[in-house]
Amino acid sequence: MNTANDLPGAVTSGRLLDDLVAARLSRRAVLQGSLGLAAVSLFGTPALLKAAAAAGSRPLLGFTSIGISLADTVEVPPEYTWQVVNAWGDPIMPGAADFVQDASQSAAMQAMQSGMFHDGMHYFPLPKGSDSSTHGLIAINYEYTDDNLLSPDGMETWTAEKVQKSKNAHGLGVFEVRFDGERWHTVKDSQYGRRITADTPFVIAGPAAGHPWMQTAADPAGRTALGTFQNCANGYTPWGTYLSCEENFTPYFVNDSGSISRLQDRYGVPPTDKSWGFRWHEFDERFDAVKHPNEPNRFGWVVEFDPYDPASVPVKHTAMGRMAHEGAMLSEAPDGRVVYYMGDDDFRSRFEHIYKFVSARPYVKDGGYEANKHILDEGTLYAARFHEDGSGEWIELTHGKNGLSAENGFSSQAEVVIDARTAADVAGATYMDRPEWIAVHPTTREVYVTLTNNTSRGAGKPLHQQEPLGADAANPRAPNLMGHIVRWREAGADPTATRFEWDVFLLGGDPEHADPVKRSNRALAFAQPDGLYCDPRGVLWIQTDSSAANMRDTDLVVKADWKNIGNNQMLAADPATGEIRRFLTGPIGCEVTAVQFTPDMRTLFVNIQHPGEAPLAHPGRNDPHKPKAISTWPDGEAGGRPRSATIAIRRKDGGVVGT
Ligand code: FEO
Ligand code: CA
Ligand code: CA
Repeated sequence: MNTANDLPGAVTSGRLLDDLVAARLSRRAVLQGSLGLAAVSLFGTPALLKAAAAAGSRPLLGFTSIGISLADTVEVPPEYTWQVVNAWGDPIMPGAADFVQDASQSAAMQAMQSGMFHDGMHYFPLPKGSDSSTHGLIAINYEYTDDNLLSPDGMETWTAEKVQKSKNAHGLGVFEVRFDGERWHTVKDSQYGRRITADTPFVIAGPAAGHPWMQTAADPAGRTALGTFQNCANGYTPWGTYLSCEENFTPYFVNDSGSISRLQDRYGVPPTDKSWGFRWHEFDERFDAVKHPNEPNRFGWVVEFDPYDPASVPVKHTAMGRMAHEGAMLSEAPDGRVVYYMGDDDFRSRFEHIYKFVSARPYVKDGGYEANKHILDEGTLYAARFHEDGSGEWIELTHGKNGLSAENGFSSQAEVVIDARTAADVAGATYMDRPEWIAVHPTTREVYVTLTNNTSRGAGKPLHQQEPLGADAANPRAPNLMGHIVRWREAGADPTATRFEWDVFLLGGDPEHADPVKRSNRALAFAQPDGLYCDPRGVLWIQTDSSAANMRDTDLVVKADWKNIGNNQMLAADPATGEIRRFLTGPIGCEVTAVQFTPDMRTLFVNIQHPGEAPLAHPGRNDPHKPKAISTWPDGEAGGRPRSATIAIRRKDGGVVGT
């Protein structure tokens, strides 16, 4: 998901920008000087590492870089093919029916089919414990919906059934996939098929469980929440479970009291006229944040479930902090503690922080979920401070430390994690330009983060702060329309370290742009990086998410800034050399998201989210009477409406993807 940027901002002068970037890029030599020192990978299955080694003698990037596209299709290099594996509405559970193109199916049927907007995902081999590259489960997020495409007349009328269908098209899913030697298929009636919706019961775990701020009329114990939604990026655990991250949950709630509490306001609970218009509160009272003021506190968490067990009860992990979680990227510590890097991509404030969670205990290797069920219940949460000189530190967000005291409004660790944003504000964390996905290099352990954009920088203020924020070394453009990628190296390449060194890896934009603040520092045009993954060979895959409203005007004409950039796309970068090639372009109005390889690296799964997004204020809903006005992907004219989908990409010769 991306939201349109329309705030005016002071333009950073070309000179200042050059100075800021030069200062940070000069540190790249320092970082690169130590590349290769940490040569032993702590990542990946044996098959992944074998595939990486087999491909190691070739150049890192071996494919034909493709041009930009304005076409309503997926384009890949000529030596590759792609196919749809699973789209919105496809049946994934026993008893589910096939999708019907007028979207007239019931809410109950939607709860057995794939949800609407595919986002983060993870491939889990079958059988469990194997490294199969031809049979597995895909656990996936369905981030949000266009309710004007979700039923034949969209939101023209509004009913309890439509709210239920919307809630059932959100959430998470598990579907089984098989490769027959030619194509991938979703297995019908799979025993593993599962949907988790905005109503599925979750256990609340960690320091906030049972705290009064988590208690509601329906759950006076504060230990069982209903549902998950706005699940954006994801993560996984070394014990074989899936993590999913609740992002911009607050605009589904409304508070029309005229006096929104400080906590609700810090997280963006809006009055109805500033909400995203999902209108769930009209038929489900828990989304009325006046009547149920603690209900929003039960969202904004990292959630976990076992994809191999359809009956497992999903869990919300409060120790990892509450925010508009983008994703949770794993880096294992040498002693077996698990470390997760997490961005907070807030739709409203745009200025939020980057976090790190370090588990209190090492996980039990080969212990599976049962032995590791409580590893994420306890640990230390940090927020990042990026100093101007290229050094950085992780500030501990623990009650009693770094100003997190009763006089500053924190009476316990439960309050620190529920109000993690304010805790990070008080502790002095850096305000970043909408931190999205985070990737960890498999051997160097360097960490990369996409800062997708922030047109408020230079003019706007972080929420509840007094002063507008201009450019700084880690966020060097004001306004930042095109986005950038920052990377850091932890002291000693140890993910639990509290010091790091960082630099700016690249700046998005059009390399030919006359305005330096919109110019890329690479030869290849792209904007607003979002999805990010570093594969076992060390290729950094970058996906973009420019909103339809940023890219096109309401007549669908491409705006001048995007003429040389085109539709959202996927790039591959060599972190050592900075070389970058374009691997994929998506259909009109889509976002490209999630990068998942099979263990042999011969299939790459990617999600095409919200093809046909309308160039309107978020969530860019279509006209229900002209559902195909913008995009017909992937079903073409024979279909009834565009559909998000998981696609599989393979080399025509069956080789390792990316070589
Ligand atoms: Fe759902 Fe920050 O993208
Ligand atoms: Ca985004
Ligand atoms: Ca995203």
